Amino acid sequence: MVDNTNILPNPDSSMKKKEVKSTFYEYTSLSELSQKQQQLVQEASKASSNAYVPYSKFHVGAAILLENGQIICANNQENSAFPSGLCAERTAVFYANSQYPNTPILTLAVTAEKDGSPVKYPIPPCGACLQVLLESEKRHQTPMEIILYATDKIYIADSVEQFLPYGFTSLNLKGS
Ligand code: THU
Repeated sequence: MVDNTNILPNPDSSMKKKEVKSTFYEYTSLSELSQKQQQLVQEASKASSNAYVPYSKFHVGAAILLENGQIICANNQENSAFPSGLCAERTAVFYANSQYPNTPILTLAVTAEKDGSPVKYPIPPCGACLQVLLESEKRHQTPMEIILYATDKIYIADSVEQFLPYGFTSLNLKGS
């Protein structure tokens, strides 16, 4: 019989169960989106065709709508030294923030293609991208709408925080 005494929580502890709610909106066709959202998806999809993906052959496109109305597009860029590549989302956000450092990002649309066809189910930004998107959202103090487009489903979230509610931010760095 294993003795669990030392690994069970203290029955007198002040432990509270914390649960986080995350909200996404699911759509089934592009025509259900606003004209602007549709345009961003189309721009992201166009950008994905220029991705440099000789290794994964997985094309990802990103389109960003800035508060000034400008649209910035980018795609994933791979490298023979694999970790040196960069995802479409980070390429787009870094470019947007380097060119327009004081302009909030209102929306980011992401699309992906495998073997020349758009994917059926939306692909979420990877963890490293989410961290970068969160920094941008906080920096501009403006929620960034995220649109994840795929042929059978489209997910929309109102902010990066919906994906990363416990994300590390500058507040943590300050020890606050
Ligand atoms: N990739 C992106 O560009 N965005 C994502 O959200 C997930 C993955 C890229 C990285 C790599 O070039 C390829 O897709 C396969 O992981």
